[in-house]
Amino acid sequence: MILSPSLLSADSGNLKEELKNLELAGIKWVHWDVMDGSFVPNITFGQHVVKQLRESTKLFFDVHLMIRHPEHHIESFYNAGANLLVIHQESTVHLQKVVSEIKKLGMKAGVALNPSTSLSTIEYVLKDIDLVLLMSVNPGFSGQSLLPVIYEKIKILKEMLKQKNSPALIQVDGGVTINNAKELLILGADVLVSGSDFFKSQNYKKSLYSYENLV
Ligand code: DX5
Ligand code: ZN
Repeated sequence: MILSPSLLSADSGNLKEELKNLELAGIKWVHWDVMDGSFVPNITFGQHVVKQLRESTKLFFDVHLMIRHPEHHIESFYNAGANLLVIHQESTVHLQKVVSEIKKLGMKAGVALNPSTSLSTIEYVLKDIDLVLLMSVNPGFSGQSLLPVIYEKIKILKEMLKQKNSPALIQVDGGVTINNAKELLILGADVLVSGSDFFKSQNYKKSLYSYENLV
């Protein structure tokens, strides 16, 4: 299992130090929640911030774009150092095209689904992508409670991936805590994003250890 802490809940005035501490704790992935104030109500980080911090760490940059017109920003996030670029199915009508542009640049490609969006909307790109991000809250804010619909969605997606012979990972994002993580992993989640629950601990190593030892 991979734990990808969401920087939305980190000390945003001190991101360089936060990245260093995550790396020292043994974390491998870090989750950037990029919001544009239109697809979702908040505005967070852009390419400039990602690029500035790229030089200070070897962490795998898992970049979750909650923006309209993601097709306009693929290359600039590549230049900023994103390793995985996740776009929302709901944010573009040309999903396959955007996914192939991400792959062509050499990044891993992921597709995210809001809680109410059906899995059938990504059926025909499952072979093309590296990861499916299932939102377990409505995107826009950290600190919300996980919506129970996620459990059924993980199970169905796991089966779909098997049928399509797709190697895509399942990532769960929103309201993940040490108390619900075990069930998510047992059902088939591969990558867990945790914001508020992970960063409330002062000891990142201990927090990672407790997630890793759930199953
Ligand atoms: C929500 C973001 C999540 C969020 C996770 O829009 O995509 O990554 O920050 O935070 P928690 O774990 O607090 O729900
Ligand atoms: Zn996210």
